[in-house]
Formats: sequence, C-alpha cells, structure tokens
Amino acid sequence: MKIFSGSSNPPLAKKIAKNFGVILGKVEIERFADSEVRVRVLENVRGSEVFVIQSLSNPVNENHFELLLLADALKRLGVKRVIAVIPYLGYARQDKVYRKGEAVSVSVLAKTLEAMGVNKIITVDAHSQNALSFFKIPVNNLSPASIFTEKIKNKNLVVVSPDYGGIKRAKELAKIIKAPLVVVEKERDLKKQHLSWATGLKGQVEGKKALIIDDIITSGRTLANAAKLLKERGARKILVFATHADFIKGTKEILRNSPIDKIFVTDTIRLEKEKIFAKLEILTVTDLISKAI
Ligand code: R5P
Repeated sequence: MKIFSGSSNPPLAKKIAKNFGVILGKVEIERFADSEVRVRVLENVRGSEVFVIQSLSNPVNENHFELLLLADALKRLGVKRVIAVIPYLGYARQDKVYRKGEAVSVSVLAKTLEAMGVNKIITVDAHSQNALSFFKIPVNNLSPASIFTEKIKNKNLVVVSPDYGGIKRAKELAKIIKAPLVVVEKERDLKKQHLSWATGLKGQVEGKKALIIDDIITSGRTLANAAKLLKERGARKILVFATHADFIKGTKEILRNSPIDKIFVTDTIRLEKEKIFAKLEILTVTDLISKAI
C-alpha cells in the first residue's frame, strides 16, 4: 500500500501517512508558466494498492486536473488499484440542473475520474446523496458526526439545519445527541453568486443553545444569516459545526462579525493562517480517513 498526495492538502496527507507509519510517495508536480501542470511519480508502485489524497478545493480545476494526471501516471506504472481520497468533493453542489441550460458538474467530475481508471473514492460529508449517484465506482462517504459530537456537552440544545437541503445531515446529529431539530428557511438568488437570505424558522429556539450543522462554508452568509435569525428568536448561544472550510475573500469578516459564538470546521481543506480567527477551531479528519483506508 502506498499513499501519495496532490498539492491541495499535504498537511492532512502527511498526518494520514504518519498514522500508517509510512512517508508519502515521491512525486514531482510542476507547473509551467502557461499554467499547465506536469506530474511524475518517482516510486515503484507496480501491483500496489495506491491512495491519492487530494481535496477538490480552490483552485478546484487545478486540483482536479492534477488528480487526473496522478491517476493516469499511476495506472501507467501498473498499480493494482487507485483509490482517490478526496476529503472535500468540489463540484458536488452542482448536482442537478437548477436552471435550464446548466451542466451537471458533478456528473462530469465523476466521468473524468472514472475515465482515468480511479477504482474507488473515499470522501467526507459529500454535499448530497444525489451528487454521489453520478459515480459508477464505489464511493465511501464518511460522516464527520463523531468528530463533532465529541465537542457537544451541554443540555438544552437544538440542532439547526441552515436550509432544507441540509436536513438529512442535521437529523443525523439530532438523533445522536437526542435534541430537537430546527430548520431555517433559506432563499438564494441563483443569478448572483454566494448570496442568500434566512427568511423563516421552523421550530423553537428561545433560551436554547443552537447547534447549526452544515457541510460547506464558502461566503459564510448562510451561517451568519441563520445565526442572526436564531438570535432574534431568542437563542442563548450559537455554535456551528461545518465540515468544509471553503473560505473565500470576506468569509472571515462575515463570520467574525456574526452572532455565532464558536465555529468548528475540519481540515478537509487546508486553511491559510490569515483565514483563521479566534472563534474558529479546526478539528482533524485524520483518524476518520485513516480508519476508512
Ligand atoms: C448549500 O446548499 C450548502 O450546504 C452550504 O450551506 C452553502 O454552500 C454555504 O455557502 P455560503 O457560505 O456561501 O453561504
């Protein structure tokens, strides 16, 4: 068994490799001045089962293509199986045609990985079951719930889904910690990117500690809007558990200035130091992924 890393999240890949007492497989990843990427595997991998760790985070297309080239290079060297470990499965949000004329991006993603001979995928908290339905190869979609529940102690809690799309995820947590479920009604402007509003609430939060659970934070607006509404409806404290910290410019400020008391994310996406702030805590998915491997 060999473990390789693309360039999207080497710190996580190193921690996973350390769990197995191995070092990451040697690979050269070069970028040409015109932005093309070239990869070269520098290991004897013939007949091995190979795990390639690569999050499809920003820059998504570069990380995606790098993963395809790594799979191709490994297959040409005669590996037995390539397992793509994709802690953050980018493009999973575009899992259907929302407006006439759109592409189903996750379907294209699945086809490209399969075309390069990837045999299996291990991912964490994929955006939806529907996104996974486009893969013909097996996908092991790991739940981060056990990582989050370690941080949940108090009573008088409610679990909040910040939109209807996240109900399944919130229900899972609510069942584990035996807390009631509350749902925020969210509306978004499909013509404008990263813009949404919290327009209503289903459930009671007065005097409660609200745990909002979501898969991805990008602009931070979904959570900040939900938190504002929860506060207005009397929530005592607001905690967030979100798996993928897909932060963009301005996310840190939106979250820092929101009524959220504490935000837990995981390290499926590497976060640069300047994106980290006091009420953010990063939990690791190292053991979760290692167990799956
Ligand atoms: C939406 O369906 C996702 O589950 C997230 O709620 C959303 O992508 C978060 O995006 P943002 O942080 O930009 O509101």
